[in-house]
Amino acid sequence: MDNMGSVVIYILVFVPILILGYLTMVKHKRKSQSSAKLPPGSMGWPYIGETLDLYSQNPNVFFATKQKSYGEIFKTHLLGCPSVMLASPEAAKFVLVSQAHLFKPTYPKSKERLIGPSALFFHQGDYHTSLRKLVQGSLSLDAIRNLVPDIEASAISLLDSWDGGRVIDTFHEMKKLSFDVGILAIFGRLDADIKEELKKNYRIIDKGYNSFPTNIPGTKYYNAVSARKRLSKIVSEIIRERKEKWSVEKDLLGGLVNLKDETRALPGEDIATDNIIGMLFAAQDTTASTLTWILKYLSDNPKLLEAVKAEQNAIYESNEGGKLPLTWSQTRNMPLTHRVVLETMRMATIISFTFREAVTDVEYKGYLIPKGWKVMPLFRNIHHNPEFFREPQKFDPSRFEVAPKPNTFMPFGNGVHSCPGNELAKLEMLIFVHHLVTKFRWKVVGPQNGIQYSPFPVPKNGLPASFWKEPSSKRLGCE
Ligand code: HEM
Repeated sequence: MDNMGSVVIYILVFVPILILGYLTMVKHKRKSQSSAKLPPGSMGWPYIGETLDLYSQNPNVFFATKQKSYGEIFKTHLLGCPSVMLASPEAAKFVLVSQAHLFKPTYPKSKERLIGPSALFFHQGDYHTSLRKLVQGSLSLDAIRNLVPDIEASAISLLDSWDGGRVIDTFHEMKKLSFDVGILAIFGRLDADIKEELKKNYRIIDKGYNSFPTNIPGTKYYNAVSARKRLSKIVSEIIRERKEKWSVEKDLLGGLVNLKDETRALPGEDIATDNIIGMLFAAQDTTASTLTWILKYLSDNPKLLEAVKAEQNAIYESNEGGKLPLTWSQTRNMPLTHRVVLETMRMATIISFTFREAVTDVEYKGYLIPKGWKVMPLFRNIHHNPEFFREPQKFDPSRFEVAPKPNTFMPFGNGVHSCPGNELAKLEMLIFVHHLVTKFRWKVVGPQNGIQYSPFPVPKNGLPASFWKEPSSKRLGCE
């Protein structure tokens, strides 16, 4: 019976893997008959390729080791896809900017289903251009300057809820702030109960996003799909309520509803929902993870923390000991804190790489990137290359006193799909740091090192920490 069992397992599991592996290899062979050669590298096991190698260790070590062995362009096989990795600024620019039309964005179908097929990230061409114009407009400097008071209120309320020394999961808490700011950017002010409903359903989608995609009731993915449907209804309700207002002024929501997704002929409300969920996804974990790293780097560098405090205390004092609100121009004049934000984004590079797919055979520096292969510009390898950033493992914000060389610093990506929320994310971080360092002291609890992937890199266990509000006399250096 045992032997019989092994044979069945062999037939059910390994035979399909070998067949798929064979077919993939045949496909590669056919492609590599073109005049240019494939980049160096190894493709690993049939079908699974090097996926296990990547996930059984710190992914950064995987990519760094590959770069050491093969140089700045190399091939591998991950998650069932033959891929080419690019670790030089020129190659990243080639894929994301100058020859961006030869590469399309690519995401797993299960993720596209959860976010929604009309969302910005999945598209190229005219539809993407009109959508992007709208989104960029709603996140432009002129638009976000009006959000300062509301972001400030959210940051203060979150920090106040931490007071008293209980241990919090910093990353988890930061997600509350980045969600609130995402909602503000999309809808402006919302009724508390509608916001709560949005949050509740979004949280379920968030939990299912990285789970195994299946339609079996009760699974995380199934629950996420159901929550998505409910979220869609809530958004439709908000749109219905706002329609009267749009006869006078247009906001992001109004613009989205009037947009046409030519390829799908979807109702405007679906386009709006897909893009709202997409923006919340793009805004939440990214900003929360970066905020958590800021806290970690400030804790690890007490002298730097003192200097940041001095910069922020000067603003605090000029605002009559925090009685006056922060102004937009104050947020644009925090040079040291701004450099800390930039250096955090370089060190942590929470989006280590991005994916594209070659829409045709492409030649780059004598190498062939066959049609259908995934292409991955490796931001982290570039950000950690000593040729562009001296002593890359050292946290040193002063390196940003001089602008980095072109295409070497891409925490927000580059080209047509680069992050339209970059200024909003930075504004949120600056406002948060202002209130953190002028009013609170804190202590990181438990292991001080280690990273977890959720899927973005976050300090281990979300950086557990305790916070205490300082008496105002102490804040102003009276003690
Ligand atoms: C520290 C925080 C953030 C980081 C590090 C970040 C990073 C990125 C990166 C690297 C991309 C490009 C991905 C690619 O080329 O494949 C991107 C795209 C995007 N981001 Fe962000 N982001 C952040 C915050 C935000 C915020 C706050 C919003 C909106 C409120 C946002 C909205 C978007 C959208 C909509 C896209 C897709 C753009 C397109 O496809 O045209 N992001 N982000």
